[in-house]
Amino acid sequence: MKQLENLQKARMYYFILSGRCEALALDELMSLLKAFNVANYNLYHYTQLALVESRDVSMSILQSITARAGLIKEAGLVLALSDGSDVHVLEDLDVVTLAGRKVSKTSIRSASNCGVDILENYLSGISGLQIGGERAKIVCTEGIGVLGLTLAKLNTKEFKYREPSKRPFFRSIALPVYLSRTLVNLTAIRSGTILDPFCGTGSIAIEAALIGFRTICVDLDWTIASGSYRNLKYLNLSHVVQIAGDARSLPLTSSTINGVATDPPYGRAASTHREKVEELYSKFLAELSRVLVSGGRAVFMAPHWLSERVESLINEMGFRKISRRYLYVHGALTRLIYVVEKH
Ligand SMILES: C[S@@+](CC[C@H](N)C(=O)[O-])C[C@H]1O[C@@H](n2cnc3c(N)ncnc32)[C@H](O)[C@@H]1O
Repeated sequence: MKQLENLQKARMYYFILSGRCEALALDELMSLLKAFNVANYNLYHYTQLALVESRDVSMSILQSITARAGLIKEAGLVLALSDGSDVHVLEDLDVVTLAGRKVSKTSIRSASNCGVDILENYLSGISGLQIGGERAKIVCTEGIGVLGLTLAKLNTKEFKYREPSKRPFFRSIALPVYLSRTLVNLTAIRSGTILDPFCGTGSIAIEAALIGFRTICVDLDWTIASGSYRNLKYLNLSHVVQIAGDARSLPLTSSTINGVATDPPYGRAASTHREKVEELYSKFLAELSRVLVSGGRAVFMAPHWLSERVESLINEMGFRKISRRYLYVHGALTRLIYVVEKH
């Protein structure tokens, strides 16, 4: 594997994206590439599969990306591609010593025309290769087949042990682990201080702290703030700064926060404490604009019916919109996930 690290040529890498919310998974991938200073790359997107061609990606970056991700399931090196009619070999298979390894198959969709048979045919010419293993694999999605060498995988088993319902303090407002992680990653930073000004049970703060950020979490409700403290303590994260305070007037110095990831209330499942939702968004966005460093990103959710107001507030408060994604919750509610950057 050392050989792979040392060769500085542009290589192609594959990333398997979760199908839960693919657009968000792709944003997460691009944010993490930015966080790890991968600026020059070509990106090709297929159903649940992204191919990234770059000379700036290393094996340690692939491992860091999957270690931090919420929605990126696996990453590896592309050895060969098939477009359904031909095989394009990208790597010298002797260099990666594929022979002797086993090859498994992942079909993302009932993918037709992905050229799996052509890849298998090609592989059958390599001596000692067995079908049915772990490390080398064929990924098959619409219109393309990838023969890849798996280099890093998301550890979803770890997600299970800290699911919201397994923590000592639980409320139905709690976000799932994968989503909390993705919100943190959408800030596109590698290190520094992350703030959640509406922390609730602490789901986002937990993930930010586990990734390794200095983390600050704030909630106006004392019972909830002390509940999130219990959750953090339970996971040995008592170094997280916990404040029972108001997101509309944060006890923080201006321009000191590198990224914000948060899930504000809108008066249904979570209380706004008698503030009108429109007013709450206006006041906390003004505060975020004050405490964020220039170029820092805020990632926040909003109900779909507030989108017009939120769009105008983003401009008024000195932010630039990076992205807006839809997350279906139920028939009466679709959440929007905004990523904005302070000028
Ligand atoms: C939707 S919940 C956050 C849920 C959280 N993401 C979790 O996973 O548990 C919103 C939280 O904002 C808090 N809140 C409401 N108004 C606030 C304010 N002005 N400042 C700080 N927190 C506030 C509520 O008490 C509630 O706990």
